[in-house]
Amino acid sequence: MNSNQKFWQKSYPYLFAALVFSGSLPAHADTNNADGCILRMAMNDTVNAGNTKKQESLYVRLGGYDAIAAVVDDLVQRLAADPKLGRFWAHRGADGIRREKQLVVDFIVDRAGGPLFYSGRDMVTSHKGMRISDEDWKLFMTYLHATLEKFKVAEQEKSDVTGFMESLKATMVE
Ligand code: HEM
Repeated sequence: MNSNQKFWQKSYPYLFAALVFSGSLPAHADTNNADGCILRMAMNDTVNAGNTKKQESLYVRLGGYDAIAAVVDDLVQRLAADPKLGRFWAHRGADGIRREKQLVVDFIVDRAGGPLFYSGRDMVTSHKGMRISDEDWKLFMTYLHATLEKFKVAEQEKSDVTGFMESLKATMVE
């Protein structure tokens, strides 16, 4: 090993730490660009736009993990019970639905700036071929509004959540 190699071997951990702590490198890299870090940033940046005072993350403003989990639980029940949308969940095992709900919670917590890393599939891959139509999407949004109303989510957060969901429409509706 020459002295150049030794220098890099010794210095790498310090350089890496310096870059992370200086903010030059994301401590948590996300390569998922279909609905990944760009949207995550959009979700919080839109919210922070025009504010000189830094706002709490959407995750915090929504009430954290339990509040998000309760919203997802209520929403998925409504979707599955709808005569038109029910086809997407028909003949699926209870465990598969629980797994999906958990992934939706992880996804929202992650994108809202919470302390979870979403490890599921991206939105294009996981919805491709389901033939979600424009009409299905409108129903989805109607149920989303009803759930957010039920949990008395404040206007600002309601608009952040619905805006975020609308930003995903093109990745799911075919
Ligand atoms: C009309 C709208 C939608 C329908 C009918 C729908 C339907 C489904 C179904 C049936 C699955 C299970 C797929 C499987 O197990 O292979 C699924 C997975 C999932 N959906 Fe949706 N979805 C819709 C909108 C959304 C939206 C707006 C989000 C964003 C929060 C979302 C997030 C997810 C996530 C994170 C998964 C799990 C992905 C994985 O398995 O790795 N979905 N969806």
